[in-house]
This record gives sequence, structure tokens and C-alpha cells, in this order.
Amino acid sequence: MENNKTEMAEDAEYKRQLALFVQSSTEKSIELVKVGEVISGLAERNSFLDIGAGGGDLTIPISQSFSETTIVEPNEKQVEYFKRRCPQFNIFNNSWDKINLAGKRFDFILCSHVLYYIPEGRWLTTIKKMYDHLHQGGRIAIVLQSPVGEVARFFNQFTRYDVNILELWGELIRKYGDDNIGVKYFLNEIWTDSLEDMVTIGLFLLIDRRFAEKKESISRYLEANQKTDGGYKLVQDEIILIVKKT
Ligand SMILES: C[S@@+](CC[C@H](N)C(=O)[O-])C[C@H]1O[C@@H](n2cnc3c(N)ncnc32)[C@H](O)[C@@H]1O
Repeated sequence: MENNKTEMAEDAEYKRQLALFVQSSTEKSIELVKVGEVISGLAERNSFLDIGAGGGDLTIPISQSFSETTIVEPNEKQVEYFKRRCPQFNIFNNSWDKINLAGKRFDFILCSHVLYYIPEGRWLTTIKKMYDHLHQGGRIAIVLQSPVGEVARFFNQFTRYDVNILELWGELIRKYGDDNIGVKYFLNEIWTDSLEDMVTIGLFLLIDRRFAEKKESISRYLEANQKTDGGYKLVQDEIILIVKKT
């Protein structure tokens, strides 16, 4: 019971951090433009699956292009919100690794900023599970933070962000064929009025809750490196990997 309460409090704090990040970023709007380019190439636009839908900032606008939307989201707080906000969605409170969607298939599968929560050694099998749930002519879009740029430098100050995108890209080409793999790059500009908000975003980006203990040094780093006239700015380089099923 006590554990459950802690998890609920952590889910609520995560929801708050994600909301602040979204509100302070250009990311979701630029990401919607890039994802829109992927969707425009689909053979059909009937079914959409969002893995790790979060606050729904991408899910809700993208759902308008599809007849049916399904989400798989382990965070109970986010799921509660989706049940109220979008009762017409098929909503699964589960993680991608555990969910059994049987023979269900989708035209478009989005997995935006979720792979970090899954050990890197399992990424290819995780993507294979998505591929198995894709209709012929469908596409998967996997959004990841780039290993270069300001956010990557911030990461490397406190932990390691050495996601080997080139290797993942190469493996996807070997597995699904060169013609079926695409890539797009874009920049997310994060801007806050206060150092406190930038520290909250920094902690959100670092993912592991144990970094809360390093709040003081994170604050000093952001003050020294990301302060601009009148606020704080941090640029995140992002990559979309696209897998087509032909
Ligand atoms: C950084 S948020 C991204 C939210 C949204 N996709 C976006 O780009 O705005 C990551 C989300 O992935 C969810 N998540 C974490 N591990 C997951 C897993 N194994 N399977 C599915 N979702 C997961 C989290 O609960 C959270 O809502």
C-alpha cells in the first residue's frame, strides 16, 4: 500500500515535470510537423498506436488523422487523464514490453522519447514487436535525443548519454532493408524564465530520480552554461528513425 502511494506520488511528479517541459519547449510543434511528413506517406490512415503517450501532446493532434487510436502507457496518472479526456481511445495501462495486443495491427506506430526507459540491449526486439503489429504499407516513427548538442553535453556532465544511434540505424538497415529506413533531424529549443524551472526540466531529462540528490550541482551547471539575457535556454537535438513495412 505504502509502495503504491509512493508510485502514485512519483507518477504525479513525473506528470508535472513533463507538462513543464512541454510548455517550455518548441519540441511538440516541430515534432508534429516532422511526424506529419511521415504520416503523409502512409498507404492507409485507419489505426494509430502511440507507445508511451505521456501527456497526449502528440497523441491527441495525431489521432485526428486516424479513425482509431490506441495508447499503451504505464503511468497510471497519465492513463487516468486519457480516460477522461479521450474516452474514445483504446487505452492500455501497461508497458510495451509486457502488453499482449494479440493479432492487432496498426498503420502508424509512434514511439517518441520512450526507448530510454528500456535497456539498450532490448531495443531491436522492442522495435521488432512494433514491426509485427504494423500493417503492410505502415510506418513506425521512433524519436530519440541525439548524442550531440547542448542536452547531450549536459547529460555527459552528470551521467553518460552514449546511445549509439549510428549502430541502431545500421542494424535497422540490415534487418529491414535500406529502402525501408528513413531518418529526420530537428532541434527543440527549451526556454524558461527561471533557473528553478530549468532545473526541474534538467531533472526530467536525466530520467533517473536519484539525480534529485545532485540538484545543487545541476543548478550551478545550468546557471553557468545555459543562462541568456532574461532567461535560460537549452537546445535539444533530436532524431526520428522511420521504419516502413512494404
Ligand atoms: C518522455 S515521455 C514521452 C511522452 C510522449 N511520447 C512525448 O513524446 O511527448 C515517456 C513516456 O513513456 C512512458 N514509458 C516508460 N516506459 C515505458 C514502456 N516500457 N512502455 C511504454 N511506455 C513507457 C512513460 O510513462 C512516459 O509517459
